[in-house]
Amino acid sequence: MNKDEAFDAIERDFRAAQTRDAISALTGEQRGLLHEYWVDRARGELTTALTFEFMLADLEIEAAPCELLALARTAIADEHRHVDWCLRWAHFVDPTRAAEPELSGTRPLELEGASAHDNRLLRTTFGCCFSETVAIHVLRGSHAHITLPSVRRLNQEHMKEEVGHARLGWALVAWPGLSARDRSMLAAYVPEMLRLVRMVWQSTPRAPDAGLHALGYLSSQIIGPACDEAIEGVVMPGLESAGIVVPAS
Ligand SMILES: [Fe+2]
Ligand SMILES: [Fe+2]
Repeated sequence: MNKDEAFDAIERDFRAAQTRDAISALTGEQRGLLHEYWVDRARGELTTALTFEFMLADLEIEAAPCELLALARTAIADEHRHVDWCLRWAHFVDPTRAAEPELSGTRPLELEGASAHDNRLLRTTFGCCFSETVAIHVLRGSHAHITLPSVRRLNQEHMKEEVGHARLGWALVAWPGLSARDRSMLAAYVPEMLRLVRMVWQSTPRAPDAGLHALGYLSSQIIGPACDEAIEGVVMPGLESAGIVVPAS
């Protein structure tokens, strides 16, 4: 199934009676929380689309291989599609409320003490090896709770695309164009990137609700363990195998 067919199928499932029934079974409070959650997620997706624009510009300046530039371009389009679908789902949940996402940051990330060149490498490393890699684990954790077919399909498409986004970072850190000095610079910023990724993913506490988990709501109960699993199981060993070894503190 190609992307267009997959999203046509999601649209069909969203319009199915099963989706309408699941939404009408929610309490008013649950519906409000779910709507707010999906609009907030659209805001995150929109901000991520912009961060990929910055990464694309960075990678062009760094003369990264064209395969990496292609991954960045695909990610920009994917993240805009994620915005659309989060808003569409929010609209299905409650068509009476406004669903307008706002950008939560408009400037490229700059880490303290890093040169312009360092920041260009750090932005893709952070955005993809850290944040997008965590995203895959969070969506995988969520998938185990989602029961509604329309939301399962949507989550599956998002998850598939997040894999491509994470791959951009892993391709960058494996790129022979990075020098030994670049790798030790990246290693020196790992503690800060760990702090930042937890801030990005875990700074909004959300109480668990099994009924909402079934509809794709991400509570702290899903995000916390997924963050730990991604960091311990993928991020740290992945960096180490790319020669980015964090100095012992
Ligand atoms: Fe996304
Ligand atoms: Fe993504």
